[in-house]
Amino acid sequence: MGKSVLVTGGAGYIGSHTVLQLLLGGYETVVVDNLDNASEIAVSRVKQLAGDFGRNLNFHQFDLRDKPALEKLFSETKFDAVIHFAGLKAVGESVAKPLLYYDNNLTGTIVLLEVMGAHGCKNLVFSSSATVYGWPKKVPCTEDFPLQAVNPYGRTKLFIEEICRDIHRADPEWKIVLLRYFNPVGAHPSGEIGEDPRGIPNNLMPFVQQVAVGRRPALTVYGTDYSTKDGTGVRDYIHVIDLADGHIAALRKLDDPKIGCDFFNLGTGKGTSVFEMVAAFEKASGKKIPIVTAGRRPGDAEIVYASTEKAERELNWKAKYGIDEMCRDQWNWASKNPYGYVAPDSTN
Ligand code: NAD
Ligand code: UD1
Repeated sequence: MGKSVLVTGGAGYIGSHTVLQLLLGGYETVVVDNLDNASEIAVSRVKQLAGDFGRNLNFHQFDLRDKPALEKLFSETKFDAVIHFAGLKAVGESVAKPLLYYDNNLTGTIVLLEVMGAHGCKNLVFSSSATVYGWPKKVPCTEDFPLQAVNPYGRTKLFIEEICRDIHRADPEWKIVLLRYFNPVGAHPSGEIGEDPRGIPNNLMPFVQQVAVGRRPALTVYGTDYSTKDGTGVRDYIHVIDLADGHIAALRKLDDPKIGCDFFNLGTGKGTSVFEMVAAFEKASGKKIPIVTAGRRPGDAEIVYASTEKAERELNWKAKYGIDEMCRDQWNWASKNPYGYVAPDSTN
């Protein structure tokens, strides 16, 4: 029997792709998700895509803050490790509703860690974010850069990182890998699973995708006066399949007896501007993306991209895909599922 992994938030965008890679890698996989920002259809499609391995997937719909439900699950199943994706992630919403974010992300994590500890499961992979670097003074961002949170969402990531460092200090049996994702985009090449944001997308590529399928008239480009190659913001976009594979590498790292609580960037190490990304998507989709230019989005950094050396060296992981493949797979998903997992009449 393969190792057993609990995936919180496993019905979501990154979670669903990671669950598929876990199943294909022979892991027994249990998903807990409250479906606040996801659809159960994603879980059933993952099961299908996994073929025979799909029988190793179990899904439970409940909120992580429901401690009795989590206790029950841990008393029924012995988990070798937990990958913890569950959380709210919209920066603007976190500024408007900080308590919602602190309660969901922090309380959810604390309950999870308590139950894990009580059941002797002390192996964790956590979804952190490049947001913990705030507005980096230089690039590429290395893992030893000073940490800085610039909004409540970012503070939840930073606090959880600190909580993880503290519990490891208090009890060295804990083994924890904190993964700092850069900008995940793209979808599984089958076009069966992908990102399906609710409401108006905040992030660039989901918005571009909705323009391409005719759901929105034009992309607003925030800021054309940055000191970058073409004046638009530069980011490190990473294919979601590469990111998912990074979690398998992190799980393997937990077998290293020397690991304590460690942290790694997951990015490609390459910076791409908004205009370059739009051009790549237009090429992949054959669709023209109308553009409206506007001022800078408050709180935005100019240039952010990762140093990938530590992950390459210590996780033995490196991103394989470039922006052409990211856009190709994102378009394949979008053209097959223009309204995501739900019917058009039930969306905004
Ligand atoms: P997502 O919203 O698609 O997935 C998160 C999942 O968690 C959803 O399915 C949601 O229903 C579930 N969830 C939220 N709160 C829960 C709770 N209290 N109990 C149970 N389930 C709950 O987001 P994603 O893009 O897949 O992101 C996954 C993780 O990665 C998040 O923690 C996010 O902050 C982090 N992250 C994402 C990005 C990104 O750009 N997508 C970048 C850096 C970090
Ligand atoms: C956002 C989040 C960050 C999170 C990251 C990855 C903010 C302030 N930050 O950052 O916390 O870790 O996503 O999910 O929301 N852009 C446009 N038009 C749009 C949308 C975006 O021009 O409609 C530009 C942005 O100005 C930026 C680039 O596209 O230059 C990428 O934006 P986005 O996808 O939101 O990612 P981040 O800014 O990196």
